[in-house]
Amino acid sequence: MADPVDFSTPDPTVRELLATHSNLSLDVRSGLMLDGVPLQAIADAVGTPCWVMSAETLRRRAAILLNAMKDAGLSISAHFAVKANDHLAVLEILARAGMGADVVSGGELLRARKAGIPASKIVFSGVGKTDAELRLAIEEGVSQINVESAEELEVLSGVAASLGSEIAVALRVNPDVDARTHAKITTGVAGNKFGIPYEEALDLYREAHALPGVKAVGYAVHIGSQILTMEPYRDAYRRVAELVRDTRAAGLPVSVVDCGGGIGINYRDEGAASPNAWAGAIRSELGDLDVRLAIEPGRWIAAPAGVLLASVVLRKAVRGGYPFIILDAAMNDLLRPALYEAWHGILPLSAHDAMLAPETASIVGPVCESGDTFAKTRELPPLQRGARVALLDTGAYGAVMSSTYNARPFAAQVLVDGGTWTVIRERQSIEYLWAHDIVPASVST
Ligand code: LLP
Repeated sequence: MADPVDFSTPDPTVRELLATHSNLSLDVRSGLMLDGVPLQAIADAVGTPCWVMSAETLRRRAAILLNAMKDAGLSISAHFAVKANDHLAVLEILARAGMGADVVSGGELLRARKAGIPASKIVFSGVGKTDAELRLAIEEGVSQINVESAEELEVLSGVAASLGSEIAVALRVNPDVDARTHAKITTGVAGNKFGIPYEEALDLYREAHALPGVKAVGYAVHIGSQILTMEPYRDAYRRVAELVRDTRAAGLPVSVVDCGGGIGINYRDEGAASPNAWAGAIRSELGDLDVRLAIEPGRWIAAPAGVLLASVVLRKAVRGGYPFIILDAAMNDLLRPALYEAWHGILPLSAHDAMLAPETASIVGPVCESGDTFAKTRELPPLQRGARVALLDTGAYGAVMSSTYNARPFAAQVLVDGGTWTVIRERQSIEYLWAHDIVPASVST
């Protein structure tokens, strides 16, 4: 399907990007600041590449989302999708702001617990949970497991029964609704691996009701990510509401609907989805059902809270073409542009650089792949060797998707809070890259 971002419009200018990113400002002397903290100072002290998160932005956005739900008259439990950013500090900030967690692995479950999120506020989603992960979730006492197939239901029933427990289960339905987002982050159309086909959901619910170890409590739906319009949500929720009614008509109780996540943000100039509109869609389609409602947002809360700082390693001239600006950050740090051709704003850290008239350039990383490209062509102030930039909106699906490809260690992470900053993850050492390698005697003798 077509990319939802219209790339035919001119790239937003420095001024326009600052206007759409309220936690960023440009000071003539200090340069680009996040929540009033100069990013140059962080880059000087910590080096680049380096992720920087704003605690205030996380708190503010969690509050906006929760208030939007409240204002719509919804009593809803909000579970942060840990996959978007699993740092313990991020999870604790959001827990203190009133959020639980949506986890998709045993590792995420234990991270959420470590960050102080009670198991009673944790929902376990995912299409392929192992027996060990299911056991862990039951033993930890998570509030609900979202089951994605008949096969998984059977396994879960066996695991729970063998532990002598009963676990609350929501069936994740695939409503066959196109979320109108990037194909790689669309999850609710027939034919992709997610969820239970809509037509099979009621039968499976009935089955779940009869199985030992599981208690069918309701349905879950998640149709994709970076969703910008409400129609796909409405369509999906309408179908789920119908399913709830049919299920009740069949004499089975339903007490939970998990509305998933997916609410989109403004990366370029596409305009963010509104939490109020999302709350309105939930209320109008599901508000009368007398069920406990839940949401699982990730990106909307965390993406605008983070930037990735990088330095220009080289400016490589191209005869008759646009220059390559080669950064010290790469696809191993921020994978989104390589994987989805995602557009991330790029701002110089120096106010002097930021005020220069733009040129067209390609912004790339040093990894040995053509896909290691942050922007194929971008209108940007000219950047010389040593200049520093911030890649915007990288607080979600940024550091969590990093790898150490090309033997590039994981970048440092910093948290800005209350006008100061703290390193919250040390830059990985080169030695750590091979710390767990084992060279068998057979190869050394
Ligand atoms: N719930 C479930 C079951 C999910 O699969 C996801 C995301 C979420 C909630 C949270 O969605 P969000 O509110 O963050 O859109 N790596 C991709 C995004 C993958 C999203 C996968 N599922 C990216 O960088 O765009």
